[in-house]
Amino acid sequence: MAEFTVTPWEVSGEIDYDELMKKFGTSPIDNKLVNRISKYAEPHFMLRRGIFYSHRDLGKTLDEYEKGKPFYLYTGRGPSGMTHLGHIMPWIFTKWMQDVFDAELYFQITDDEKFLFKDGLDLEKAREYAYENILDIIALGFDPEKTHIFLDTEYIHHLYPLALRTAKRITFSTAKAVFGFKNSSNIGEIFYTSMQSAPAFIGSELGGEPTNCIVPCGIDQDPHFRVTRDVAPFLGYPKTTMMYCKLFPSLLGGDKMSSSVPEATVYTTDTPKQVKKKIGKALTGGAVSVEEQRKNGGNPDVCMVYRYFSYMFEPDDDKLKKIRDECRNGERLCGQCKMELTEKINDFLKKHQEKREKAKDKVEDFMLRD
Ligand code: TRP
Repeated sequence: MAEFTVTPWEVSGEIDYDELMKKFGTSPIDNKLVNRISKYAEPHFMLRRGIFYSHRDLGKTLDEYEKGKPFYLYTGRGPSGMTHLGHIMPWIFTKWMQDVFDAELYFQITDDEKFLFKDGLDLEKAREYAYENILDIIALGFDPEKTHIFLDTEYIHHLYPLALRTAKRITFSTAKAVFGFKNSSNIGEIFYTSMQSAPAFIGSELGGEPTNCIVPCGIDQDPHFRVTRDVAPFLGYPKTTMMYCKLFPSLLGGDKMSSSVPEATVYTTDTPKQVKKKIGKALTGGAVSVEEQRKNGGNPDVCMVYRYFSYMFEPDDDKLKKIRDECRNGERLCGQCKMELTEKINDFLKKHQEKREKAKDKVEDFMLRD
């Protein structure tokens, strides 16, 4: 079996997502669950296509929602650099959840985490990235009345009691077993998971009664939330509900778009020219020559350009299928796909960048302050 590693700080190898789900002990978001959600809205294409594919306790939380118990949403961002497409994919889904269920959303920005875990990133720089990233979050159209964004170092007065109550329930040996800490790990890293747990309880705390919380995020965050869920009952809160997505792939293949490979990463601030250049170099499933591809077709299953259509840029299932069929039967060549994807991304970014600019005046409408 191929080797792969998925932790909150490292993703490598070819991820077998079914295997990962088994390893983590999470459940599939199956048709039955997708159908249940279709009672409230046409299921988002990320649900239909198995991009948001795994969960913990989603059925139970929907049962309670049906009985009149609301839930709030929580997700987060570690501000280690500028925002790229891989970051916003789960945020787009989170906004959809907010719209469909009219839910409050707590959005944690972990400047503390990135300071502790990244060499050479000082707190001031992490804070700077935090406010850059917040512009991208606001640009996606979250409801300012219901969306509460905070930086850990700034909202600490409210977070700290919750983090402490969490930390007291986590032994060093658990933290080591879950995260693989070593004797050389700094002690901030060891404490950090309790900071990521705290916002799962903040809606209950601020609302004055235990309330369900759903966290939509990449499945790489599951180790943190296993701890959160274990601790919750001791604090008198419901176990956190999770909705996990697959990771947004790198343009050059590989399972996670990452700032460590900038030429394979599309930032929300990229120019049309930069996007064109990056997409031009993307890994595709094309054949060695045009003749051969016309004859035998290409392979969309290994193509990053196709994956970008499917994960984000072609919400229409029929159109996606058409791209797939045309690729398979050799009608469509990689150049055409790359051109269409470039256009779609640049369209998206043009609008996003305008909204991002306008967001600069709106930051305080979204911030949760101590
Ligand atoms: N640890 C995440 C990261 O490195 C940031 C984060 C904090 C987060 N809280 C979260 C992600 C909740 C998803 C859900 O990016």
